[in-house]
Amino acid sequence: MTNIDLQKLPQHIAIIMDGNGRWAQKHALGRVSGHKKGAEAVRDTVRACRELGIKCLTLYAFSVENWLRPNSEVEGLMRLLEEFLHSEIQELMDNDIRLMTIGNIDALREPVKKVLKESVGKTAKNSSMILTLALSYGSRDEMIHAVRKILNDKDTGKITTEEITKELFSSYLDTSLLPDPDLLIRTSGEYRVSNFLLWQMAYTEFYFTDVLWPDFRRDDLLKAIAEYQRRERRFGLTSDQIQKT
Ligand code: IPE
Ligand code: IPE
Ligand code: MG
Repeated sequence: MTNIDLQKLPQHIAIIMDGNGRWAQKHALGRVSGHKKGAEAVRDTVRACRELGIKCLTLYAFSVENWLRPNSEVEGLMRLLEEFLHSEIQELMDNDIRLMTIGNIDALREPVKKVLKESVGKTAKNSSMILTLALSYGSRDEMIHAVRKILNDKDTGKITTEEITKELFSSYLDTSLLPDPDLLIRTSGEYRVSNFLLWQMAYTEFYFTDVLWPDFRRDDLLKAIAEYQRRERRFGLTSDQIQKT
């Protein structure tokens, strides 16, 4: 087991759960079987984060670009999401985990929306950890929506141009209730952000692993956290300045 310092945990971990399709291919299965197996990794990762005391976990489950995949895969993913939410709600309640979503939830089909709404509502008062699912999510869309809302609020006199700051902009994003991610993990050996939390990751530490998402387990998470803990986050300052604070 990889050792980590429980006093220096990232507050917010974001994960691009990639490699389900390649995992399926490797095992001579259909792509949807890869996603099904990926759900097990989600369960394991949520449990591990909760046990460690991670405050926020944000999972990229479905991008706005993923709608363009073959219909059978999109349908399979939606069905799995629905099943997953039904099966996890009790565990979320038992572990005091609040479920939230980011992305264009309206684009999801009705049964998924229904169970999402129920789960988000039911867990709204839970406070030990926030689990956020990015669904039909695209960071550029999110920012465009924020700009539209800001302009609207300016038109109606709710805000002035001078009030538009970084903090205000953040508060108009879907992630308004979350701190920026401290650590981003991407599985499957891809080194890109694929339209995920572009504004929010200005100073996030990136960790890439070749492990395919369905194989990702607690020790892979611990390895990512251990690596994060070895980094020096300088936020534009010098190393000397950081060490004095
Ligand atoms: C990630 O796995 C899950 C989603 C994008 C929904 P992929 O399905 O992208 O797997 P690969 O990248 O094809 O292996
Ligand atoms: C990113 O993975 C989206 C999710 C993990 C949900 P993709 O597999 O869609 O990303 P690209 O296409 O390889 O950049
Ligand atoms: Mg992929």
